[in-house]
Amino acid sequence: MTDIHSITLRRPDDWHVHLRDGAMLNAVAPFTARQFKRAIVMPNLASPVTTRQLAVEYRGRIQAAVPQSASFEPLMTAYLTDNSDAEDLAEGFQNGVFAAAKLYPAGATTNSDRGVTAIENINTVLERMEKIGMPLLVHGEVTEPSIDIFDRENVFIHQVLEPTLQRFQGLKVVFEHITTSAAVNFVRAQGPRVGATITPHHLMINRTDIFRGGIHPHLYCLPVAKREQHRLALREAATSGEAQFFLGTDTAPHAISAKESACGCAGIFSAPCAVELYAQVFDEEGALDKFEAFASLNGPKFYGLRVNSDTVTVVREDWTVPDAVAVEGGVAVKTFKGGETLHWRLQD
Ligand code: DOR
Ligand code: ZN
Repeated sequence: MTDIHSITLRRPDDWHVHLRDGAMLNAVAPFTARQFKRAIVMPNLASPVTTRQLAVEYRGRIQAAVPQSASFEPLMTAYLTDNSDAEDLAEGFQNGVFAAAKLYPAGATTNSDRGVTAIENINTVLERMEKIGMPLLVHGEVTEPSIDIFDRENVFIHQVLEPTLQRFQGLKVVFEHITTSAAVNFVRAQGPRVGATITPHHLMINRTDIFRGGIHPHLYCLPVAKREQHRLALREAATSGEAQFFLGTDTAPHAISAKESACGCAGIFSAPCAVELYAQVFDEEGALDKFEAFASLNGPKFYGLRVNSDTVTVVREDWTVPDAVAVEGGVAVKTFKGGETLHWRLQD
């Protein structure tokens, strides 16, 4: 802990968010738009965003869901399938509709049924992406049921990611929501064409927290949190200031009823307090001087975008995170750290 009382930084961007659609979109998007200037929007809707046309339409719905005054910019991604059209993706990227394409191994997570069943099936698409500089974002977990859930990221690195990077030596890749020290080391070893996002929850909880005194469905996400040693490795990477690591909340809202269920959904909703959570981590690590790099500089650099020109100020001030966010239709979403006191607060 330091005695710094406030920190002003370029407005951050969120390089990994789930905004959903319909009433849920309307309820959650304003939180992301309040904190961030831009966000990489995940395409795993119930009916996924697989084409340029669908992305343009979805972008319009997002823009309608956030206050005009926020000047929020959603950056759209294409959901890759075994049948993705390289031409459509490339045109979308070159016309500024798509910022990237997302690889969900089929069956890996929420709404991933139409994802890629074998990486070889998208070789043509990856070749094209490599050629035009379109980043590939990966959900880095294998799906074979025999692989232990805590090992899925590690196995993915060796079985899928490493060979893909070998094969496509110019392809830019973001290893999303990394959860292990192996992933940290792997990313570092690849150099600047590989980046990684790190979520606030993976910096704050380990796998024991999910079961502390009983099962906590609101701490369940994918990839699932790992051992303490891995949480510490993620903290070290995030607060290092190194250009390959940047902010991506993976805020992933689900109705409370879908989380508190016999088969609860994966996803942690952090949008109402994301910047504050990260500020707290950087403060705890004595690394507030590295916060701007992680939150506001490294992401745009990787994506080849401008850094935001406006700034935000986060002050050392206690406040209580709202327990839940209401969605039209009587549904609510539980907030990560809801009801708890945080020590940093984003000023309006
Ligand atoms: O926990 C997660 N929730 N991980 C994912 O990969 C997807 C996300 C969601 O969409 O709910
Ligand atoms: Zn995600």
